[in-house]
Amino acid sequence: MVRHFLRDDDLTPAEQARILDLAAEVKRDRFARRPLEGPRTVAVLFDKPSTRTRISFAVGIAELGGHALIMDAGTSQLGRGETISDTAKVLERQVAAIVWRTSGQERVEEMAAASSVPVVNALTDQFHPCQILADLQTVREVKGGLAGVTLTYLGDGANNMAHSYLLGGATAGMHVRIGAPDGYLPDPRVVADAARIAEATGGSVAVTTDAKAAAENADVLATDTWVSMGQDAKDLAVFAPYAVDEDKVALAAPDVAVLHCLPAYRGKEISAAVLDGPHSVVWDEAENRLHAQKALLVWLLEQQDGVP
Ligand code: CP
Ligand code: NVA
Repeated sequence: MVRHFLRDDDLTPAEQARILDLAAEVKRDRFARRPLEGPRTVAVLFDKPSTRTRISFAVGIAELGGHALIMDAGTSQLGRGETISDTAKVLERQVAAIVWRTSGQERVEEMAAASSVPVVNALTDQFHPCQILADLQTVREVKGGLAGVTLTYLGDGANNMAHSYLLGGATAGMHVRIGAPDGYLPDPRVVADAARIAEATGGSVAVTTDAKAAAENADVLATDTWVSMGQDAKDLAVFAPYAVDEDKVALAAPDVAVLHCLPAYRGKEISAAVLDGPHSVVWDEAENRLHAQKALLVWLLEQQDGVP
């Protein structure tokens, strides 16, 4: 049966845990699994810029024995108004999976609805679920597990990273806190979905405008750019209290791990001292994009092909 990965909660807690186990396995034994041998092709489409996502999918697909067909909006007919469903119908006959970075979540949903091969959300305005798999792998590595771990995200609470931390963290049984200014709080529907998931997994979700309270005793501090791709200029002064800096680290647990999906803007959402300091695990996090996405593709192809 075709499975897609469009939002973090498309995976059950057991499925998420299975993919994270696989991610650890492919990290240990990097070239062992080759489900794309042939090579089979995976289409990787970008309507927005990317460094990490482009590299990690290209490298990961090659390491799984496959071929990555990387296309930018400007070089495909999708960028000239060909419909999403027509594009899906052309791709599904030739590729094993479709990975897409675009704007509205409804666009990846439309692609998935028209596609008989797995569609993976490589970032939309609303969610960045591939990033959260890598982040969860990183937290597992440094904290030994996920259930019961408190993860605090500070910054733009209405963006894709905040929403994906809520859903992905709740699925993992974590305590997810979002600290963000008024006007940049998460979508209440996502908070409600995350709260429902957390009830079943033993996690919790909390949203506050109090950055210091959010940071207190956190096991993990995370942040993201204050200006996401495609956003108009906004007043950055309101975000200043939410910067992940030495003060927030001092409030957090003594062994706090600091995450940032990158690209980072030192002196804005994160201080240089924290990003480049001893609590930062951002380079492991960036590397884990490779392993987590390989694991995701292995799992999606298993569901598709019925091969264990
Ligand atoms: N973190 C992340 O998705 O980075 P890119 O935008 O460089 O792909
Ligand atoms: N929130 C950021 C994440 C970049 C990886 C953006 O959408 O631009």
